[in-house]
Amino acid sequence: MAYTCIKTDVNDHVALITLDRPEARNALNSTLIGELADAVARFDADDAVRVMVLTGDDKAFAAGADITEMREIGFVEAFKRNILMERWDAVARARKPTIAAVAGYALGGGCELAMMCDIIYCADSAKFGQPEINLGVLPALGGSQRLTHLVGKSKAMEMCLSGRFMLAEEAERSGLAARVFPAADLLDEVLKIAGKIAEKPPLAALAVKECVNRAYDSTLSEGLLFEKRMFHALFGTEDKREGMDAFVENRSAQFRGK
Ligand code: CAA
Repeated sequence: MAYTCIKTDVNDHVALITLDRPEARNALNSTLIGELADAVARFDADDAVRVMVLTGDDKAFAAGADITEMREIGFVEAFKRNILMERWDAVARARKPTIAAVAGYALGGGCELAMMCDIIYCADSAKFGQPEINLGVLPALGGSQRLTHLVGKSKAMEMCLSGRFMLAEEAERSGLAARVFPAADLLDEVLKIAGKIAEKPPLAALAVKECVNRAYDSTLSEGLLFEKRMFHALFGTEDKREGMDAFVENRSAQFRGK
């Protein structure tokens, strides 16, 4: 599939997906959404890829769903066509680790896209927000839920009700972003971290992701049981033998994802 609204590149097991509609602050129109879903699903199934990084440009990660596409749509059509709701599972349910590198605006669906990723790193220029209320609607791609999990009820409620933006320092302090980097260094730093994660045993990385996500979707006792079972399951992998042999033999491990 030839892409027109995103760019992709793969280096050393890290896939970089760049949203590429700078003229519209990377607003998520249906073409971009379809391309993004296609690319993420393709990389998720590709053994050459171990980590995915999503990014935008220095002005915007993404300024939300494309308002010009939604403007003329009424309830019946929105409901019948299930607008905006399709295809996000590719990102939200990707099995491999996903990282959002956010500079500039991450608003509405843009903030929600970042929150679908496993880790958010942001530039000191980042501005996160759920301003949908200003358009007479509300966050539709998980914002009211994921933001609440990440920053707590009071801050999530304030952001969704007032539409105010959260800057980088507050995003890190509140747990929305894992770390802040100077804007000029963001992508290099994130690709370095992604490269480190890509060197880890891939099956253990998949298992870690499933375990951490379990903390959102289950009780503590079920999550702890799941974690134990995944720990034991990894004893069946060649990478576990390699990792432990390499430690004992004082050499670097070569993981093969087996
Ligand atoms: N949809 C469509 N076009 C958009 C857009 C969007 N979400 N955001 C920006 N653009 C377009 C602008 O219309 C403008 O186009 P023209 O040059 O043709 O006029 C271009 O991008 C540049 O935008 P600005 O001139 O406004 O740039 P700025 O730097 O001054 O401001 C901004 C940037 C603060 C992001 C501002 O554009 C803005 O507020 N955008 C809308 C943000 C928003 O409301 N997002 C929520 C969308 S609804 C949603 O996402 C629902 C959901 O939960 C899925």
